[in-house]
Amino acid sequence: MKKVIVTGGAGFIGSHTVVELVAAGYEPVIVDDLRNSEERILNGIETIIGFRPTFHRLDCTDPIAVSSMLDEEGDVHGVIHFAADKAVGESMSRPAMYYRNNIGSLAVLLSLMRERSFKHIVFSSSCTVYGQPDSLPVSEDSPDRNASSPYGETKVVCEQLVRRQCEAVPGLKAALLRYFNPIGAHPSGLIGELPRGVPNNLVPFVTQTAAGLRDRLRVNGDDYDTVDGTCVRDYIHVVDLAQAHVTALAWLEQAEPQTCEAFNLGTGKGRTVMEVVNAFQKENKVIVPYVVGPRRAGDVVSVFADTTKSREVLRWEPQLTLEDAVRDAWRWQRALAVKA
Ligand code: UD1
Repeated sequence: MKKVIVTGGAGFIGSHTVVELVAAGYEPVIVDDLRNSEERILNGIETIIGFRPTFHRLDCTDPIAVSSMLDEEGDVHGVIHFAADKAVGESMSRPAMYYRNNIGSLAVLLSLMRERSFKHIVFSSSCTVYGQPDSLPVSEDSPDRNASSPYGETKVVCEQLVRRQCEAVPGLKAALLRYFNPIGAHPSGLIGELPRGVPNNLVPFVTQTAAGLRDRLRVNGDDYDTVDGTCVRDYIHVVDLAQAHVTALAWLEQAEPQTCEAFNLGTGKGRTVMEVVNAFQKENKVIVPYVVGPRRAGDVVSVFADTTKSREVLRWEPQLTLEDAVRDAWRWQRALAVKA
């Protein structure tokens, strides 16, 4: 079996990708320091796939720890690198930590991959690299903008680092996956997102409000130039997103050496904040109390993906709907409440 190192494999997208790797016949090895996850996610993975994948608890910025883990694992087919800090607001107050962790961990991995002649890396990027694009839907060749946060800047720099490494290292191949807004959870209700503290992202805040853990959702502005005045994003089910990683890895296997390609992972459909809230209420037959507040600093008005390249090159297309995602997100929230 082809062994795949999944850094951040206990995280939101990482854990779902581990499940999809197993379904596709790969052998995932989870590397995570659990700073933003918990043992229960590993238990959930185990229940879904029927065994516990190898797990190394370590910090990917630590070259000695990563090196000895790789020595132990031996023959590695590829690396999917999720491990990173991802809270935009926190990155504004702790820029050095974001640069050190996000760029540092990637630099450590790429150096150690080179020493061992590993060929495939799939990197977790974000549509944040586009800022507010000039035209929508946004395609992969749209220029990178000044990212609006240190978090976003680390994604731009990391993409550039992967590109440079592919130019420099014979045989290395990479896919840069630019996620739009991942939401939902595994339909089993056994794994999902574990937000720390008060959620920043829309859907975790909605689920916690519906569960009575928050008084009300604050809709961040309803005076934008959009159909209902609220911001537009491209929400994609995390299971579709996870499958795209497996597809990208398989695509890299047959790609030319030195390949480094970016792909948008979205649905191509823009939805407003209120469309998401309404879909959640309708599908789950629950009320989400909300108030309209001021605009959130740094928000772009509207962004959604041009998915032509991922459809035509990767032959990947999302299968699940917004309705599936809000149902699965609510099932996961209820499972959390029961087990907490
Ligand atoms: C944010 C990051 C993005 C990152 C992603 C990770 C910014 C500018 N972008 O995306 O780089 O990859 O998180 O998941 O921060 N909203 C509310 N009320 C809330 C929460 C959100 O109205 O309580 C609105 C936001 O204003 C926005 C939309 O919901 O219009 C989506 O917000 P969010 O889920 O935070 O994602 P992004 O900001 O798109």
